[in-house]
Amino acid sequence: MRTIDWVDGAIELVDQTLLPDECVVLRIETVDALIDAIRRLAVRGAPALGVAGAMGVALAAATLDDPAEAIARLRAARPTAVNLAWGVDQAAACLPDADAALERALAIRDDDIAACRSMGEYGADLLADLAPAPARVMTVCNTGGLAAVERGTALGVVQTLHERGALAEALALETRPLLQGARLTTWELARMGAPHRLVVDSAGPYLLATGHADAVLIGADRIAANGDTANKIGSYALALGAARAGVPFVVVAPETTVDMTTPTGAHIEIEDRGPSEVLTVKGVRVAPKGTHTVNPAFDVTPHELITAIVTDRRVVRLAQGETLSSVPQGARR
Ligand code: MRU
Repeated sequence: MRTIDWVDGAIELVDQTLLPDECVVLRIETVDALIDAIRRLAVRGAPALGVAGAMGVALAAATLDDPAEAIARLRAARPTAVNLAWGVDQAAACLPDADAALERALAIRDDDIAACRSMGEYGADLLADLAPAPARVMTVCNTGGLAAVERGTALGVVQTLHERGALAEALALETRPLLQGARLTTWELARMGAPHRLVVDSAGPYLLATGHADAVLIGADRIAANGDTANKIGSYALALGAARAGVPFVVVAPETTVDMTTPTGAHIEIEDRGPSEVLTVKGVRVAPKGTHTVNPAFDVTPHELITAIVTDRRVVRLAQGETLSSVPQGARR
């Protein structure tokens, strides 16, 4: 199953707000409908957002006389995952040739599928070095096929480990407030037949401290040039817990998530998604009326806490003061 695709002149995507109860495919025929789907996380996850951005430009070119304003709004629909702006820019560079923009979007889709397979292999090979086999792996948010086109990043590595018979268990953090771990990651793990248990977010560092996982695998929304990594809120707490417990902490993301124009994590814009997601659970208010909130959707893990970054083209363990530009494609170190 593909999470997002171009079908007969429109975008089709799995509506992730309805999972795990219903698996509904949305047909998106306008840029405004796509922006709405992105904002409410019907489509989400950095690689899937890259494909959505590029396909959205193709849609804009096909449906609007002057697509520039709509493309700018699409590009800004979510700020943290660099893939969205990257995908938009890639396809927009082909305009005014609408056919070329679509061709670029389809190539980004195909490249993403290949990249996820490659990350799975690189990541599972690395885990064979870093952790006992079969390994117990902890993860946060959803980084599986639902966050990409197929297979995914960190959860793609979990899938490859499982296919190799090298996975003892995946521990999925529920990922408040939108529960991507509870709703989506468990759904994907069950579909792949992988052994797994769900834990509340705040149990993560304690479970690492008490020896319940051999490695932490996370995805990324943006990796700065120095290796600092923005990912779903809760990643930083896991990194701190993993460092304290001596557990390897591995980031898995395609090269398209590496942003060499962002020097460090301090320069990454973190999306705040407002009060309603914090104040309510499935539409039921859980805090007194008038309560103020802060709701960062992502945090930044400093590169010092990251054991390795696995992309589709390299495995990187940055030395002190090094940036990703000093590590050649194809390197495994
Ligand atoms: O808010 P979301 O669900 O889009 O956040 C997604 C994440 O943080 C993922 O870990 C990241 O995009 C990598 S997905 C392969």
